[in-house]
Amino acid sequence: MRHGWFERRGFCWGLLHPSFFRWVVRREAYRRAKGDPEKVHELALEVIGDFDDILDEMSPLFDFPRLRVDLKGQKIFPFGIAAGLDKNGEALLPLSRIFGFLEPGTVVLTPREGNPRPRLYADAAHDDVYNAQGFPSRGLSYFLANISRYREASKSKPVYVSICGIPPAPEQIEEAYAELEELVKALDPYADGFVWNPFSPNTAALRALREPDVFRASAELISRLTGSTKLKLVKMGPCESTEATAWLNLAHAWMEGGGDGIVAVNTYLTLRDKIPAPQWGYPTAGRSGRFLQRYRQHAIALTRKHIPSAIILATGGIDSADQAWAAFEAGADALEGYTPYTFNGFGLLLKIARGLEKRLDQEGFQTLEEFLKQREFKSSKIEPHKK
Ligand SMILES: Cc1cc2nc3c(=O)[nH]c(=O)nc-3n(C[C@H](O)[C@H](O)[C@H](O)COP(=O)(O)O)c2cc1C
Repeated sequence: MRHGWFERRGFCWGLLHPSFFRWVVRREAYRRAKGDPEKVHELALEVIGDFDDILDEMSPLFDFPRLRVDLKGQKIFPFGIAAGLDKNGEALLPLSRIFGFLEPGTVVLTPREGNPRPRLYADAAHDDVYNAQGFPSRGLSYFLANISRYREASKSKPVYVSICGIPPAPEQIEEAYAELEELVKALDPYADGFVWNPFSPNTAALRALREPDVFRASAELISRLTGSTKLKLVKMGPCESTEATAWLNLAHAWMEGGGDGIVAVNTYLTLRDKIPAPQWGYPTAGRSGRFLQRYRQHAIALTRKHIPSAIILATGGIDSADQAWAAFEAGADALEGYTPYTFNGFGLLLKIARGLEKRLDQEGFQTLEEFLKQREFKSSKIEPHKK
């Protein structure tokens, strides 16, 4: 796409100033996409690629040495993109200019259209997104071409690829394992780790994967196929307090199979009558963004308390330095985001990182790592959300 001076300036301002992004860039993008949030997202990925030179030039601004932490032997800036933002690895290089790590995907073996559009709704009044995408993916071959191109250009930022094998029917779990195996074998030369995602709320076939035995076996399979230095995580969905035991059983099984930890949390399964989109065409949607904050905190606290050795990447409405601090304080090792960036742009990352540095000063810590090392973990006392 060709862009003029006006668009380049707009991109720079949007990158530095979340309010400019929200009130000018985002509005203009919705105007050009005729109000379709999925089209806006596709446009955004294209524009990010077109302005890679600007991101490259500005990348020193996104370098925060005081915030670097150790994640399984790698020193990283602990802010990444959450799965779904770059499903097919189309913007890995430009995103790596500013984020500390990337979680592209979810990648599946063979191309899938997902559900018919429209299947996305952005609720700007509450900073939430509702989606019923149903696992669209351009498939392994397309993703492989993109990640291998990224690796030729850059090795600096870790990539943890989100993957999933899909059982054709609940009793055909073996096929899901076979797909998982093919995905891991093909991607292993390019990935620093994997996030297995059995928790997409919009894909009924995945329900069969949410059993402790399947979690254990999937972790064993990935561990057997990949090096011990690579990160092996499972993406967990949100849970109510009443569901905590079953949820923990899954996470425990993952760790028993050789997993390193979890990404928490995926979107929240929401019924149609709770979805504010005027004509939502699906019985449910996965809700992300600010609404997930309490579920994210609950999941971090539960895991830290019951599986102290787990590595935790936290996501779900991390839209301020206070939210980021709360997630780290509860036990997160690194943070990811998607929905908050769609409302505020990547300038939000600068705002959060600067705010965290300020908070470190106030609390008397030189580095984030120093703060993380002295955390004390308490039990979780978060009330379930009223449905
Ligand atoms: C439109 C959309 C698509 C998503 N697709 C995926 C996906 O393919 N795989 C996955 O593990 N999570 C996916 N997610 C969930 C996000 O990775 C994240 O867990 C969730 O949105 C909460 O974080 P956030 O509030 O920062 O968005 C998706 C989220 C959205 C909004």
